[in-house]
Amino acid sequence: MKNYMSSAALIFLLAASPAFGAEVPLYKDAKAAPAARAADLLGRMTVEEKFGQLQQLDGLWEGNYREEHLALAREGRLGSTLNVRTAPFANTLQKEAVERSRLGIPVLFAFDVIHGYRTIFPVPLGESAQWEPQLAEAAASAAAEEAYSVGLKWTFAPMVDIARDPRWGRIVEGSGEDAYLGSKLAAARVRGFQGADYGAPWKVMACAKHWVGYGAAEAGRDYNSTDISESALRNVYFPPFKAAVDAGVVTFMTAFNDLNGVPSTANKRNISGVLRGEWGFKGFVVSDYTSVKELILHGLAADGEDAAVKALSAGVDMEMVSTLYRETGPAALAAGKISQADLDASVLRVLELKFRAGIFENPYIDPALEAKTLKTPEKLALALNAALNSMVLLKNEGALLPLSPGIKKVAVIGALADSRADMLGSWSADGKPADAVTLLEGIRAVAPGASLVYSSGAFAGAADKDLDRAVAEAAKADVIIAAVGETFDLSGEAASRVSLALPGRQLELLERLKKTDKPVVAVVFNGRPLELGWLNDNLPAILEAWQPGTQGGLAVAQTLFGLANPGGKLPITFPRSVGQVPIYYGHRNTGRPPDAKEKYTSKYIDSSFEPLYPFGYGLSYSSFSFSGLEVSPAVIAPGGKAQVSFEIKNISRRAGSEVAQLYIRDEAGSETRPVRELKGFQRVTLAPGEARRLIFELGPEELGWYYAGGYAVEPGRFKIYAGNSSAGGLEGVLEVKP
Ligand code: NOJ
Repeated sequence: MKNYMSSAALIFLLAASPAFGAEVPLYKDAKAAPAARAADLLGRMTVEEKFGQLQQLDGLWEGNYREEHLALAREGRLGSTLNVRTAPFANTLQKEAVERSRLGIPVLFAFDVIHGYRTIFPVPLGESAQWEPQLAEAAASAAAEEAYSVGLKWTFAPMVDIARDPRWGRIVEGSGEDAYLGSKLAAARVRGFQGADYGAPWKVMACAKHWVGYGAAEAGRDYNSTDISESALRNVYFPPFKAAVDAGVVTFMTAFNDLNGVPSTANKRNISGVLRGEWGFKGFVVSDYTSVKELILHGLAADGEDAAVKALSAGVDMEMVSTLYRETGPAALAAGKISQADLDASVLRVLELKFRAGIFENPYIDPALEAKTLKTPEKLALALNAALNSMVLLKNEGALLPLSPGIKKVAVIGALADSRADMLGSWSADGKPADAVTLLEGIRAVAPGASLVYSSGAFAGAADKDLDRAVAEAAKADVIIAAVGETFDLSGEAASRVSLALPGRQLELLERLKKTDKPVVAVVFNGRPLELGWLNDNLPAILEAWQPGTQGGLAVAQTLFGLANPGGKLPITFPRSVGQVPIYYGHRNTGRPPDAKEKYTSKYIDSSFEPLYPFGYGLSYSSFSFSGLEVSPAVIAPGGKAQVSFEIKNISRRAGSEVAQLYIRDEAGSETRPVRELKGFQRVTLAPGEARRLIFELGPEELGWYYAGGYAVEPGRFKIYAGNSSAGGLEGVLEVKP
């Protein structure tokens, strides 16, 4: 059969070809390479349109845009928004940009999807207690699906700031104190949000934040200045960001903090030097909320124009919320204060990602997607599993836990046991308290035979009669479950505290509950390490539940009653008292390490120097033994690799999971190194009596570190530790010889 082209098809082809009639610009050709499309588009843009693409503006809390966004979008001067979401709002604003602006560049919709969008997972610090990157990846992937379904294509996550000061409220948003664990989780979350192709449906662009050092805020006061040595930056604060880059993260957010005298949002050495230069990052960098304008208050910029010049020249591509690029940029460019090359490079980076994200081809979201995507049974099951795996059993004297589901009378005391909002945590996006399962509901579901007495007891501001009632109710029960800790708003952004004590009259309540002589199980809901010393000394059982998300109360109840076996581990040290802060396992040794018998050693005269619970700590209803540590070969060259193996065995009659942890200590170097560094971990589930030999590899990546002159594995002796926390464990030696 001959293949004749119909005349209609021929006319169409000719019309679409550049040689015939109106030219179709290269940037509109979906098959052309993103970089070529971006370059073509750049060449067509006015200066105002270029600065407009670098502008990100804030929407309204319910997801709507602001009136001014419409006009800016129509003028092609709105690059991105944060908080505008859901089809009605996003599509209306998008239409102005795509169909009414001169060049039709779509708006990029961003939102803080931190630990879930509608289905809420445990707060990131709690999720980190799983020591299970695949679960964090799955949670991020589910969150991406939900976010995508309401028109979002970019999340401001993961937050990968290392933090060692629990006074800092934002410690809840990160992975805790450790660079190695933090790096594994950073990479997992990036993979979860972006998948193999963030331009695909159901995926969103991720954003590593806050670059850099924000978690080292002096005195734990949010937004405070930081002074961080080059060694600490390279070995502690940078690694999770590097891991995010290696996992393919496409955007970075600069931090609010002043870092060694140069605020992060104008820190050229870190943005253009380290991130782009050394690491080859190809994505774009957004400022934090008004952090460009804040360069004036920092005392770095003399005025608005100076702030824009300094941020843009340092390599900050997009300005969040403040409007100095847009307003002062064109004149600064004309005056030669901003270089054309810097401006064009920033615009190109933003455009290229917009092309890669697929929003030129798919600018709108199908309004029907949301209902099919949010809070599906699969996502709720994932959230339950996530919460179960994040539980950390801190104490269980006399195997009080798990409780028997046949138990007759249970007193559930404490307002947190019946608070939906407090299950969700401080950054719960569009999570709805109404969706959350409380602890009280969870216990009702899990132990239907128990007669529950509930009393809100004493949270902040409670009256004497509240306490009296709670104690009277509790005294009648067989067991008391006391929900204590922090409300969701006591951690998170701008929620630093000088005290790590249980807020309100909670400790007083616990003291009185203890006096009833009934067994008391404390369930702690919180976004930061708290002082739990009294609880540890006086109560038989303590379960750390964090803010466990939509299914949180059910997860806690299943754990308390033995339907699940806790196996989480602390991703952060719990101090005995706030006065020990900062306290973390990977400290240096000093020339006078703490010695209880020696006065002139590094310790306190009014408190122990030990933490209450070390990093990596957590119990289980099962018991495990570690044995047979082997290091092979025992001597390697600086570029070589050794295998460390050991056996872990479930020596109890209950299946359970344990996190095997591998630490090293570089005993002597050209600079002093931490007393321990985590270099491997694996969470394993073992049946009763089951044993498994685990193998870890130690090579240049694990043994090396950054010193003033670069990165190296130095010859010498490395101590090896293997166990179930950062304290104790099996010991071995690895020798590195040139
Ligand atoms: C300020 C916070 O520091 C940052 O983490 C967040 O992504 C932005 N606000 C946007 O909400």
